[in-house]
Amino acid sequence: MDTKIFDIEKLNLKEKEKAIYEASQAIKSGELVIFPTETVYGIGADGLNYEAVSNIYKAKGRPSDNPLILHVCDLDMVRDVTDCDLGVLEKLAKAFWPGPFTAVLKKSEKVPLITTGGLDTVAVRIPDNDIAVELIRKSGTPIAAPSANISGKPSPTKPEHVIHDMSGKVKIILCGDKCRVGIESTIIDLTNEEPMILRPGIISATQISKVIGRTVAMDAAASIKNRESENDVNPKAPGMKYKHYAPSAQMIILQGKRSDVEREITEIKKQRESQGEKVGVILFEENDFENAARELFSKLRKMDDDGVDLILAGALDEKDEIGFAVMNRMLKSAGYNVREV
Ligand code: TXA
Ligand code: MG
Repeated sequence: MDTKIFDIEKLNLKEKEKAIYEASQAIKSGELVIFPTETVYGIGADGLNYEAVSNIYKAKGRPSDNPLILHVCDLDMVRDVTDCDLGVLEKLAKAFWPGPFTAVLKKSEKVPLITTGGLDTVAVRIPDNDIAVELIRKSGTPIAAPSANISGKPSPTKPEHVIHDMSGKVKIILCGDKCRVGIESTIIDLTNEEPMILRPGIISATQISKVIGRTVAMDAAASIKNRESENDVNPKAPGMKYKHYAPSAQMIILQGKRSDVEREITEIKKQRESQGEKVGVILFEENDFENAARELFSKLRKMDDDGVDLILAGALDEKDEIGFAVMNRMLKSAGYNVREV
């Protein structure tokens, strides 16, 4: 398939509108469109169209029991895809939408099971990106969109990442800026008495608790380390059980006092390089967790581009809630290969 690529940032207002209009027409006719969000790029299709959604799974090579998030532009669109009262979601929406926050609700009849991976619940969010919101509004339908990477690879945070993974597989790519957040949205399940975070993100449990005035649980599967296999604990978000964010290189996370981690990295690097291997290092500023979130996936992809054999990464402090969310991804990237130093 010929993929049409629009560099939205370089277009004037009129051209921009035209490009988004063309993309919305593609969505309406069941085609795939890639668009930027504040978290990562998404590969979208009409979330209520069975055929269109099934093509997302094909393009990504994604297992069909892994449900998609519906991207909506307002609460009316949310009401359309659930039969239940929005309840606490109204408060949460006021606080966090548009933004990197996804709510899981009971689904309505309208939403096909292919979108929800066979579940009777549906995930929804309003992204904080003008191109995305305009595309949804013009399409007039919720857009099902997983991250626009080949399944298993790091999520795309820059236009070149989606062009690399998805050229020839989608009708249109809307290229925007580099994603501001860099890791995917926080997912919270609101279908039970106690809300539960299924995937941590930059919107934290503490922030959510404050808004709804009650405690929030964290899915135990979100932070387990050093497991032989990820299947030991069954995560509640189906997607969290799959191999994820994996660079081609082997990856080791070093955890301990900063000075010890730095020394260990230098030592391993020297040793491996003497064996002719190419070694890459990911060591973020200790307390700049937002920067770590923004840069992690992009750095992992760069390592692959550079043909690195081994990645040595410094662990982040999981006591910080954003540090915890970034570590959730880093641990998956490394296949839970953590070395205490
Ligand atoms: O920031 C984001 O959320 C990005 C951008 C594009 O919006 N999207 C994203 O989608 O990360 P994806 O498909 O890569 O991840 C969606 C996650 C998966 O782990 C999936 O299992 C979970 O959401 N999920 C979707 N619907 C669910 C449901 N009804 N119940 C539980 N988990 C659900
Ligand atoms: Mg994904």
